[in-house]
Amino acid sequence: MGDPLLLQRSVEVDDPRAPWVRELLTDMLDTMRAADGAGLAAPQIGVSSRIVIFGVDSNPRYPQAPEVPFTVLINPELTWLDQEMEEGWEGCLSVPGMRGLVPRYTRLRYRGVDAEGQAIDRSVDGFHARVVQHEVDHLDGMLYPMRIRDLRHFGYHEVLFPGQPDVDD
Ligand code: NI
Repeated sequence: MGDPLLLQRSVEVDDPRAPWVRELLTDMLDTMRAADGAGLAAPQIGVSSRIVIFGVDSNPRYPQAPEVPFTVLINPELTWLDQEMEEGWEGCLSVPGMRGLVPRYTRLRYRGVDAEGQAIDRSVDGFHARVVQHEVDHLDGMLYPMRIRDLRHFGYHEVLFPGQPDVDD
């Protein structure tokens, strides 16, 4: 947090199958796995391109969270399915050690392409929808603390959730 790259709009990817994209995705996956994260966006490792990855099977950070299929999403577009929002706790690899209570749309449709250039078109809700919104925010220069409505609900993980694993995404 503080890097200008995290505060600007990232650039569309012309060729999702380009070798540089494949290399970047390998680095992103390594970074996400090392942090036990639920997702990662390219600007978080210094590349201002519209690429995110996410996925959750068994994550120590979210023991109650439902599974989210591992997804490479390039040039994403989000559409809210209605106006309902819900609050949930988030963390971020770019804001290490912190957690905040963030409002997100409950239901959304996301579209984009994968690393093979194949279309992705999914309608999701709940935690899956939250993860997608958090990651796509990174492509638009938004970090989750900027969305917290009440900054009393922003703090150190070890204080808010004593005894729980301290990892970031
Ligand atoms: Ni993040």
